[in-house]
Amino acid sequence: MALRGVVAMDGPSGTGKSTVSRRLAQACSAAYLDTGAMYRAATLAALRAGLGEGATEDEIARAAIGARLESGTDPVAPTITLDGEDVSGPIRGPEVTGFVSAVSAVPQVRAEMVARQHALIRAAVGSGGGMVVEGRDIGTVVVPDAPLKVYLTASPEVRAARRGRQDEKAGRKADLHVTLADVERRDRLDSSRRVSPLYAAADALVLDTDRLSADAVLAKLRELVSARGLDG
Ligand code: DC
Repeated sequence: MALRGVVAMDGPSGTGKSTVSRRLAQACSAAYLDTGAMYRAATLAALRAGLGEGATEDEIARAAIGARLESGTDPVAPTITLDGEDVSGPIRGPEVTGFVSAVSAVPQVRAEMVARQHALIRAAVGSGGGMVVEGRDIGTVVVPDAPLKVYLTASPEVRAARRGRQDEKAGRKADLHVTLADVERRDRLDSSRRVSPLYAAADALVLDTDRLSADAVLAKLRELVSARGLDG
């Protein structure tokens, strides 16, 4: 199966978005872009510049925009580097997770990241290729004319349990109450920010993953890609 054009995958964390996005890209021999990883790497750059809660938007923007980030778009092994260092591990740590909502709410940071995303998307689809792009504002802001938009949801409890299992697998200590509180805090911040808040595009297909396995979601997505004629 091939893919032409962009599949926009949006939704909050813990909906299984990354897993199915990567698997869809692999199944279609398409490129893959994890825009959350870009905001996380920009956040790591701000933290490494000594910034944290209380930093001004200008300080955050300077550190985040000045950072040299490179995103790999291979769905088999997605990588992200900061100043040449592979930071795929550190960007998933609690310090970044605790500060990323503040960094991704800064308008200058979003403008810069969206410009970089547009360049990566153009490179992938410009010559008739396909890309699965996942994030929070892909169908609403980054690629509003994407031929397929999917918005994944799940209850906060199910999402916190999934996040907890991921943390455990990665060797990070996880307390379910703390994880649930963090999921709800980030939902609030991501949905209420001034610029590009998280919501489903009017023309997005909304899939509730509470009772759907990753295999079932993937099967549905493959069906949609075919039904829209994007597999030519
Ligand atoms: O998908 P994730 O949990 O790795 O994303 C990390 C954070 O980045 C999340 O709190 C919201 C933000 N984000 C965003 O604002 N816009 C995107 N397109 C992707 C992520």
